Amino acid sequence: MWRSFRSALLTAVVMVPLAALVVWAAQAPWALDSSSGRAADDGVREVAVRAHAWGFSPRVIHVAPGETVRFVVSSEDIGHGFAINELEVNLPLRAGRPVRSPAVTVNLPEGIYEIHCSAFCGLGHSSMKGRLVVGAPHPRLASLAPWLASLAVLMSMASFAAVAAVRARRGRRP
Ligand code: CUA
Repeated sequence: MWRSFRSALLTAVVMVPLAALVVWAAQAPWALDSSSGRAADDGVREVAVRAHAWGFSPRVIHVAPGETVRFVVSSEDIGHGFAINELEVNLPLRAGRPVRSPAVTVNLPEGIYEIHCSAFCGLGHSSMKGRLVVGAPHPRLASLAPWLASLAVLMSMASFAAVAAVRARRGRRP
């Protein structure tokens, strides 16, 4: 009894951090980091973004459809770029110098748009992405797919561990 409890406990000790890691890596759709921003002197909401190797903070920026915003982006380390194709925004960034975009009006349908780094910055350049969420779009099944896949992998690993534990117990019996 104690032995099976102990093996279950050990499995949990291994599985829980692993699960957290996989879910984090797959970026669960609701693991969002938002930015409220504040209004500048001209009344335009300024959204502050930090760029770094290799990502943006916040990773997700929420705007309302038709809202006018200004992006104030600074790089924490090396040269990057801050680009949103749909808004024709493309800011070259140099370390330690905040760059302000012109005021842009978000005339886009509700949805999720890609923010990407537009200057080659090494190994993680192609994965240096963020998301611009316009309005409150319904989550699409496609965006849930990586998360569901990681969940499926975890469940199969957990069942494998359970089967192995049962087999080990059976093997010990006289
Ligand atoms: Cu950062 Cu490319």
